[in-house]
Amino acid sequence: MGKYDFNKVWERTGHNALKWDINPMAGRAKSPDFSYLPMWIADMDVATAPSVVEAMRERLEHPLFGYYMDPDRYYNAIIDWQRERFGVNGLTKANIGYENGVLGGVTGVLHTLTKPGDPILVHAPTYVGFTGVLKNNEMNIVSSDLKKDENGVWRMDFEDMEKKIQENGIQVAIFCNPHNPTGRVWTKEEINDYINLMGKYGITVISDEIWADFMIAEGKKHTPTQSVSDLAKRITCAFYAPSKTFNLAGLVGSYHVIYRKELRDRILKQESLSHYNSANIMSTYALIGGYEGGAEWVDELCEHIRGNMEYTENYVKEHMPLVDFKANEGCYCSLMDWGRWLEEKGKDMDDLLNDIAWVGLAFNDGRAFHANTAVRVNFACPRQYVVEMLDRLDKYVYNK
Ligand SMILES: Cc1ncc(COP(=O)(O)O)c(C=O)c1O
Repeated sequence: MGKYDFNKVWERTGHNALKWDINPMAGRAKSPDFSYLPMWIADMDVATAPSVVEAMRERLEHPLFGYYMDPDRYYNAIIDWQRERFGVNGLTKANIGYENGVLGGVTGVLHTLTKPGDPILVHAPTYVGFTGVLKNNEMNIVSSDLKKDENGVWRMDFEDMEKKIQENGIQVAIFCNPHNPTGRVWTKEEINDYINLMGKYGITVISDEIWADFMIAEGKKHTPTQSVSDLAKRITCAFYAPSKTFNLAGLVGSYHVIYRKELRDRILKQESLSHYNSANIMSTYALIGGYEGGAEWVDELCEHIRGNMEYTENYVKEHMPLVDFKANEGCYCSLMDWGRWLEEKGKDMDDLLNDIAWVGLAFNDGRAFHANTAVRVNFACPRQYVVEMLDRLDKYVYNK
């Protein structure tokens, strides 16, 4: 047993938790015999790291919260974290900039470099937030399917990407590293090949690295996209968020890393126009607390999530063999594919989701991620939720 207890059950209903107060399966009937057990949106049912609370508490002891500037301690915490966790050297304060949210940052880059109707390259399955932002901004989504290899590992299809780049005149691409929702942790070689392809066509890369700290499979290491080459540094805008790592989405706060000054200045100018991209003093101290003192907590958390996923992989193999599930390399949400089961039973996704909703479970519908026979399940929770979820799926859905 580690130092931190990720199995503690917190009552979140009525405590401002979107995940618990809204049922995304609403519209489908739920039996009163089952409690609501949400395992959808990417928010964790574990308390944040003690060092986060400590840093915020300390700041609260000086109860003046007027206009302020990010302290150097904030930038140093980021620089140290990036060096110690990801081996990044040479990062300076000038390369780092506050962003309210990662999606806001992604949108800021899109607003800077594109106009409505422009084609944007993404991978499918696609994080639903990208799809939403691109649609809302009237972009033309060009998606290249990731393909599972013979070992069930998701791979990029370089030929397909190049064809789509040529056909559509792509100038901006969104890269999710590690990849949500497949959980793929891209290797240095894969990222390098991707960057070389983008560089060949003068494409700017938006690298969403919000999941960088969630290295789930043993021995996995996050490779920042910009770390693979000088070219990568020149063409990439990267985004990170302690809000994901330390479960602080309700506090808001993330940041970009952009090395090329000309690109950075254009984006900063664009983002400054709304006057809305301003840091919040408490989330600044939350980042400081997490990055200065939360490394061990993150390591233990990843181990806990690995345990939840491995437990599920074994259970599914034994009890629900027509369902495809494999523990992730990275990220805490994972696709559970019911395609073979649907085919065998002659059912469709709506039948499946109705049965899932009936027993109080809530997942993300894979169709929103272009994973058409899957649900996306969130494993950042106490083990007992996972056990209960599998029991309900087994008895009342799979073997109904
Ligand atoms: C890949 C990815 N990007 C961005 C976000 C959202 O980030 P933010 O809340 O900082 O906008 C998420 C949330 O789950 C995500 O999975």
